[in-house]
Amino acid sequence: MTTRAIGIDIGGTGIKGAVVDLDAGELITDRVKVPTPKGGEPEDIIAAVSQMVEGFGDVASEVPIGVCFPAVVLHGVTMSAANVSKKWIGLKAEQLFETALQRDIVFVNDADAAGVAEVRWGAAKGRDGLVILTTLGTGIGSALLWNGQLVPNSELGHLEVDGHDAEKKAAYSAMEREDLDWKHWAKRLQKYYDTVDALFSPDLIIVGGGVSKHADDFLPLLKLRPEIVPAVHLNNAGILGAAALAGDKADAA
Ligand code: BGC
Repeated sequence: MTTRAIGIDIGGTGIKGAVVDLDAGELITDRVKVPTPKGGEPEDIIAAVSQMVEGFGDVASEVPIGVCFPAVVLHGVTMSAANVSKKWIGLKAEQLFETALQRDIVFVNDADAAGVAEVRWGAAKGRDGLVILTTLGTGIGSALLWNGQLVPNSELGHLEVDGHDAEKKAAYSAMEREDLDWKHWAKRLQKYYDTVDALFSPDLIIVGGGVSKHADDFLPLLKLRPEIVPAVHLNNAGILGAAALAGDKADAA
């Protein structure tokens, strides 16, 4: 059984990585963070990730690597690009990272990775039925978990709410951009999660992304039918989930 892996979480704003203890579900190095290169161009992001991996030293050649990314990822190909360069659309991203890093990796959607981490070590652990994890950050990401199994690439951040792409109004970046207070942002979240509930009837909603550390400021303002809780791993869930999937792939090989 693989006990350690590197997880790297590429976001619209920052790229974060760490070495993960796969038994404990914990970071065993400091979390390294660099800003996402301006424009989010493939070659710049790949170079930044390669540099980050090198920075982990010897351990990087000893453990598997998982990378998660803010787009639909189908069989290693990035199919969308909401908050990064449009050049990612249709790119064989997994292969490009493998060439740059000179090894096999796992490459998945960022919210899906976070969902996997929360099933294994967090708020979705042991929860049957439909769990929907949403990450509220630069965009809104989603992971659909049915009886603990991931249904990948759900993209519920792009539901249409009141004629708008939901993430443009309800992501945490919208709150920052428009200088909203918790109350006004929560009104938008209320509409968003009511739409999610109307369409999917989840048993549990998990709120992830950096802002989930302020859950006490906005979750009590929401009146929803399903239970809604913050992610246990907050902003580290992507790193943990990407590492977990890399460990699984190594064990299956
Ligand atoms: C992307 C998703 C991603 C989410 C969070 C959205 O804009 O379409 O693929 O999971 O942002 O990063």
